[in-house]
Amino acid sequence: MEILHTNDLKVQTINSNLGIAILNLDPNRNIDHQTAREIEILINRYHLVLMKSDTPIKKETQVDLTKRLGEPWRYDYVPGQYRDYPEIFKVTNQKGDGFANAGQAWHSDGSIYNKRMHLSIFSIDKIPVDGASTYFSNLNYAYDRLPENIKQKLLTLEGNFGKMYRPHPVVWKHPITQMDLLHISEGFKDGFIDTSSGHALSFDESQEIHKLLNDHMWEENTYYEHKWKLGDLVIADNYAVAHFAKPNYSNTLRVLHRTATKGEKRAKHS
Ligand SMILES: [Fe+2]
Repeated sequence: MEILHTNDLKVQTINSNLGIAILNLDPNRNIDHQTAREIEILINRYHLVLMKSDTPIKKETQVDLTKRLGEPWRYDYVPGQYRDYPEIFKVTNQKGDGFANAGQAWHSDGSIYNKRMHLSIFSIDKIPVDGASTYFSNLNYAYDRLPENIKQKLLTLEGNFGKMYRPHPVVWKHPITQMDLLHISEGFKDGFIDTSSGHALSFDESQEIHKLLNDHMWEENTYYEHKWKLGDLVIADNYAVAHFAKPNYSNTLRVLHRTATKGEKRAKHS
């Protein structure tokens, strides 16, 4: 693995497609303004940033870092959430203890909303006996390696997310880097609209495309599996990265803390 040095940070690439690990920064220590700007540069270049602490990530340091990186999302209280930390979205595998069993499909956080989430910041709080993993995949790489005829077909498609939300383009540009991105979502099960004709695709046609994209995301050696350890902190650029929470079969407690920053309105591919 390549080891690079930014001004103050020592970093190491995770794999050829995605991600960088910062080797000399404890995410449980207060991260100053200058260091946060360096982290932003890494996020825009590598889209997934990992850090490790020797101790579990404290709620207040995760929220403070989130505020350094953008305007945090705040969540309405549901049973099991933290009343003192409305910025923390608690994901668990136990019903009634936060948001249960979220994320078991390829998705980017907040992708259903017309105004997107930019960064998701994750830490693990409870690891089940059979371990906890999240898969991450680079959506620019996912688009680039599609066959040309499929790329052309996808360019005019929008995913139909039901009455509450506007349709979302299946291919769009990263608002910061202008990279072409594939948008992947379980919401695509609801079907696609072909914007060149203005017509909805048939149920079978939509299912076929949804399956093609889902299979594409699982192509071997194209994604990164993060095996969680206490003290890990992962920052994902939701524009450029999709993730998938690996299901657990042990039925022992799994708790993940997610914070997020507010992003831009969705832009159409041009
Ligand atoms: Fe998620």
